[in-house]
Amino acid sequence: MVGRVSVEGAKKGFALPQVPKILVYIVGFIPAVWLFYAGITDQLGADPMRYLEQALGLWALRFLIATLTVTPLRQLFNVNLLRYRRAIGLLSFYYAALHLTTYLVLDQGLDMAAIVADIVKRPYITIGMATFVILVPLAVTSNNAAIRRMGGQAWARLHKLVYLAAIGAVLHFILVVKSWPTEPLVYAAIVAVLLGYRVVRSQMKKPSPRRRPA
Ligand code: HEM
Repeated sequence: MVGRVSVEGAKKGFALPQVPKILVYIVGFIPAVWLFYAGITDQLGADPMRYLEQALGLWALRFLIATLTVTPLRQLFNVNLLRYRRAIGLLSFYYAALHLTTYLVLDQGLDMAAIVADIVKRPYITIGMATFVILVPLAVTSNNAAIRRMGGQAWARLHKLVYLAAIGAVLHFILVVKSWPTEPLVYAAIVAVLLGYRVVRSQMKKPSPRRRPA
């Protein structure tokens, strides 16, 4: 079924067939399940820990980018996926948490001294941690009770931090690879377009200053 449906707190738009949100989570977790299966069955190549760490980080970034595409899709193409935005955003957080857990447990063996040294010494770890810290309040407040408690405006202001998280995530990716291969630059370009779109749109929406009578 494809058609127009009303969705939570949103303008009407062309919605894809409505599916239960739980399906978004189930599909969203397929890469994680596959990665862990491949990990325990020794299919992740010569350095399985590194492969797992990188793949989870990449999925966190992909879901973060997917979250940012929901608004332009609705405004430009009238495709309304607002109903699923929260689930997609939370998937990004869950993947980032798994990515962090892989780093803390498998990469660093929970050696707190080594972890602190890494955070201080390696800018990409510092930025990764800062990005994760930004994602935490966004994930914690991704529920209706938080919106009610905070009020819509304060909630929306807080959730603008997602833009900073996206910048942090691509910066982290670029610094991880150290040289300039295409992949992180492609992700950075996508984030730049998605954030640039918002800047342009907010400029266009600003009312032009009233002319004072001479
Ligand atoms: C929580 C703190 C974080 C830590 C400690 C961390 C750590 C790491 C490490 C150790 C790597 C692999 C470096 C290597 O290949 O040698 C990595 C890669 C990566 N991380 Fe993170 N990260 C963090 C947060 C994040 C977040 C929040 C995101 C995205 C939302 C992210 C996305 C990525 C990406 C895309 C890669 C590169 C994957 C690739 O090489 O294909 N990371 N991170």
